[in-house]
Amino acid sequence: MPEGKQVQAMFSGIAGKYDLLNHLLSGGIDFYWWWRMARASGATKGRRLLDVAAGTGDSSIALAKRGAEVVSTDFTHAMLRLGPSKFRQKKLDPLIWASSDADAMALPFKDETFDGITICYGIRNVEDRARAYSEFARVLKPGGQLTILEFSTPVIPGFRGLYIWYSLKILPSIGAMISGDKSAYTYLPESIRTFPDQKRLAMELEATGFKSVRWTNLTGGIVALHVGSKPG
Ligand SMILES: C[S@@+](CC[C@H](N)C(=O)[O-])C[C@H]1O[C@@H](n2cnc3c(N)ncnc32)[C@H](O)[C@@H]1O
Repeated sequence: MPEGKQVQAMFSGIAGKYDLLNHLLSGGIDFYWWWRMARASGATKGRRLLDVAAGTGDSSIALAKRGAEVVSTDFTHAMLRLGPSKFRQKKLDPLIWASSDADAMALPFKDETFDGITICYGIRNVEDRARAYSEFARVLKPGGQLTILEFSTPVIPGFRGLYIWYSLKILPSIGAMISGDKSAYTYLPESIRTFPDQKRLAMELEATGFKSVRWTNLTGGIVALHVGSKPG
């Protein structure tokens, strides 16, 4: 796992092209994955959610579209600063507040502040996941839910081979061509390959005290949605 400063430098370098590449490399299915995440998170009117590692804010937008109040935060300023104009454009700015930069491992929020926490494609990049989980538990209200959307391990054998070929051979070239940064899009499949699979991630969450941990595979397990609750 690269150090936080390296992760920040990497995302600062690709921030301007991040949204375009997300939509292009996923074939547009990223919107469906955020929609599923928002539905699973229990985002509704009257609930206050913290979207950690929110990047340019698309994950926060999916939550606010369901009426939830969202604090959108990230430790890479170059990513986070791109969110507010999108929130205004979608007239969701009354619901989403882009906080100042915050590290998932040291959240600048009081204990028991949020009804839910979401983190989409962020936890894979966090240097010390256990530290982040305990921060999530600290700022969640009792009974609050953590929702993680993350790349995972495809579960359909033939499909897995095709996906590995795409992510190792095609994705880095397109990513490098458009972003001008070869290393960021070589890091992406490598970080996915070394990230815990569905079951191991669930065990990590249980080991840090989250209850009722379960997951749903999306698109054959290319990504997985994990949820777990802070004991009430
Ligand atoms: C792939 S982007 C995901 C952005 C957004 N959630 C989405 O779904 O498009 C990953 C984000 O995680 C952030 N990140 C990585 N490590 C972090 C940490 N320790 N604390 C806060 N943000 C972090 C990066 O700055 C980057 O913006």
